[in-house]
Amino acid sequence: MAIAYLNGQWMPPGEAKVSVFDRGFMFGDGVYEVMPVYDGRIFTKAAHLARLARSQSEIDLAPVMSAAAWSALMDEAVTKSGETQALIYIQVTRGSAIERSHVYPGGPPTVLVMVTPFHPKTATEIQPLKVSTAEDIRWHRADIKVTSLIANGIIKNRALANGFDDAIMIRGENVTEGTASNVFIVVNGEILTPPKSQWLLHGITRDEMIRVALEAGLPLREIDFDETVLAGAAEIWLSSTGLELVPVGQLNGQWVGDGLPGPIWKQVFDGFQARKRAID
Ligand code: PDD
Repeated sequence: MAIAYLNGQWMPPGEAKVSVFDRGFMFGDGVYEVMPVYDGRIFTKAAHLARLARSQSEIDLAPVMSAAAWSALMDEAVTKSGETQALIYIQVTRGSAIERSHVYPGGPPTVLVMVTPFHPKTATEIQPLKVSTAEDIRWHRADIKVTSLIANGIIKNRALANGFDDAIMIRGENVTEGTASNVFIVVNGEILTPPKSQWLLHGITRDEMIRVALEAGLPLREIDFDETVLAGAAEIWLSSTGLELVPVGQLNGQWVGDGLPGPIWKQVFDGFQARKRAID
C-alpha cells in the first residue's frame, strides 16, 4: 500500500498537504531522491542518502537529520507500506514562510517520504526506446538533484509530442544525459559514458552499471563524446532507478544498430539483475 510521511506524520499520499507558502511550491526550492526496494530490501540506500546530503549541502540547506536517522526512517517507511518491490521518494524543501519572499524563511524544512509499488520491466518486457536529441537548456548545476525540473519536463514532453519516448540532451559539443537518466553507448565494442561533472546527475544506477560492466571484464571509459559519436554508436542505453537499464532502438528516427536490444546491453542488464538481488 502506498504510504506517505510528511513532517513526522504517516498518512495515505493523497492526504499529504503543504502550505502554498512552502518554498517547494513557490520557488521549486527543494531537493529529492528516488531509491528502489527489491525483495523488501532498499538497494543502494547509503549512496542515495549520501547524494541527498550532498544536494542539501549544495543548496545551503542544513542537514535535516543524521544519516542513521534517515536510514531508520527509510526502513520504517518500507515496513509501514508492506511493499516489497517499491520506490521510495524523498523530498526536502526549505520549508514554509508566512509570505512570499526570496529570503529564506529560516524555519524547519518540509520533509516528505513516499513509498509506492514498483515493477521494473523484465528483459522480455523491455521495448527499445525511440529517442531524439535536444539542446540541454538546464542550469549549470545538473549534478544537484533539485525538484525544479522545468527544463527536463519541457524537453521530455516536447519529445513525446513529436512521437519520441524521450530525449538525450546535448550541451555545446557534449552529450550530457537523458531527461531523467544517464547515457551509455557502445563504440567499437567499448562502453562509453560521460564523466561526472556539474552538467549531469551522478546517477546511482550509472555507478552500479559501471561496476557490473567492469566486474564482467567489459572495456569501459568515462569520457565525453559528441552527437556524431552518439549517432554512430552500435548500442545506446539509458540508466536510472526507475528504468534500470533500457536500450535505445532509434535515435532521431535512425536505427541504432539493428534496432534491437544489443548483446552488451543484455550482458550488463543481466549482471545488474543478479547484483540487485544479491547486495543490501
Ligand atoms: N531520475 N539524470 C537525471 C536528470 C535524473 O533525473 C535521474 C534520475 C538520473 C539517474 O539517476 P539514478 O540512477 O540515481 O536514479 C540521471 C529520478 C529517478 C527521477 O527523477 O524520478
